[in-house]
Amino acid sequence: MSLERPQDQDIVIVGATGDLASRKLLPALFNLQLAALLPEKGRIVGCGRTAMTVEEFRNLAKSALEEFSRSRPSPAQWSAFAERLSYCDTASNGFEGLASRLTQSNRLIYLAIPPSAFATTVQAIGSAGLVDGTRMIIEKPFGHDLASSRELTRSVHAVFDEAQVFRIDHFLGKETVQNILVFRFGNAIFERIWNRDSIDHVQFTVAESIGIEERGAFYEETGALRDILQNHVFQVLSLLTMEAPASLHCEAVRDEKSKLFEAMRPLTPNDLVRGQYARSVIDGKTVKGYSEEDGVAADSDVETYAAVRLFIDNWRWGGVPFYLRTGKRLPRRATEVTVVFRPAPIHLFSGSGSDGLKPNVLNLCIQPDETISLQFLAKAPGPEIEVQPVDMQFSYEKSFTATADEAYERLIHDAMDGDNTLFARADAVDRAWSVVEPVLRDLRPVELYRAGRWGPEAANKLIAPHLWHLR
Ligand SMILES: NC(=O)c1ccc[n+]([C@@H]2O[C@H](COP(=O)([O-])OP(=O)(O)OC[C@H]3O[C@@H](n4cnc5c(N)ncnc54)[C@H](OP(=O)(O)O)[C@@H]3O)[C@@H](O)[C@H]2O)c1
Repeated sequence: MSLERPQDQDIVIVGATGDLASRKLLPALFNLQLAALLPEKGRIVGCGRTAMTVEEFRNLAKSALEEFSRSRPSPAQWSAFAERLSYCDTASNGFEGLASRLTQSNRLIYLAIPPSAFATTVQAIGSAGLVDGTRMIIEKPFGHDLASSRELTRSVHAVFDEAQVFRIDHFLGKETVQNILVFRFGNAIFERIWNRDSIDHVQFTVAESIGIEERGAFYEETGALRDILQNHVFQVLSLLTMEAPASLHCEAVRDEKSKLFEAMRPLTPNDLVRGQYARSVIDGKTVKGYSEEDGVAADSDVETYAAVRLFIDNWRWGGVPFYLRTGKRLPRRATEVTVVFRPAPIHLFSGSGSDGLKPNVLNLCIQPDETISLQFLAKAPGPEIEVQPVDMQFSYEKSFTATADEAYERLIHDAMDGDNTLFARADAVDRAWSVVEPVLRDLRPVELYRAGRWGPEAANKLIAPHLWHLR
């Protein structure tokens, strides 16, 4: 399905002077313009409390494109983009000032501001009369826990209908994540074995090799469980495990995701392992421990690693454990789902091979390698029956010549189009918080792991007798 130019509308970035606007949003809008996927008519209005002229905002946008855009602007492309740009200083003019800069009756407003400012900003936008014709993207995190998430939803719904709200999770804009639905529901052979009868357990790893970089203050308030696991990982998990929707209509897909979230069993403290990276030497260089990072308390108990064991209590998944882990300062960057199938019922070939019989394993590599591979057993050449695991692999890069768009491009385009399939609905967000709420209330201390290692020892115990698996 190729994307089409959305209807005429203005695009507003609130928080246009910030990091996200420069690194992702302005480059995404520019690349949408190159692909003729911006509206024919409409401005791009940056909003911020920083006093700035339109020229200064254009300069900021130009620097952002030069540094972060996947395609650098030619002079002609830049001038076409710059023409659309406008700026509203909300400290002096409020959101009433924004209204006077808009040219269309419809608009997409992107809230790229700190979460603490979401509720008051939504209210101010409502008071300025910018409700009808508005669709609004809200950045994560949607709350800090169940109570704050509900409070945020109440504040947003006091001004906007749910259909106007687009809660963005950039994982859902990735091609490899969208492909999960095609893989499952376009290929009947997989769907038939996608259940408790055939699957032993499922693993999902989101590993980062970097530390918290300059985000100490942010991370102290967040931690790995809230930053990655409760949102990105749960969202992808819902696509992996939901029932087939009746159609691809956005509410049909989101209804199935919500049912899945309903079936997730709330975590207990024994289902969670929290870790924190400690000082170590990686590639000959000393790397700071988390508690030594700028903006972090020396006695911080915030987790930079979280692993959970989760169950989905429905007929498809009853009894199948899902082991989910995420961490910083792990040995390499990888986002991967590993589906481990049940072993053969009779071990005809037992004793063959050096490490016994391995189960079939399906790997969905979401990033940085974009592949799907199925591991099965084969007879190694020779007079004896020597069994060895081998791989069948699909690679995006080898199979398709077109390069994938940035996730933000796809998601901003969908929001302009009013398609909220890939955005989180309020009930699913609420339920995702309910699943982690019991462990947030009863946090066990973090266990240290050396930077550059695969997390704390307790995570290996959590998954035992299995082992964590990556391709
Ligand atoms: N940066 C990322 O890569 C990233 C990734 C995922 C999610 N996010 C989320 O995206 C949002 C924006 O992130 P960011 O990194 O761009 O944040 P940021 O740089 O800290 O802030 C963005 C802008 O928000 C405005 N702002 C700050 N405090 C405000 C307040 N109290 N009321 C109204 N405006 C305020 C500031 O502009 P003015 O001072 O000019 O008003 C600032 O330039 C956050 O919710 C973050 O969690 C960011």
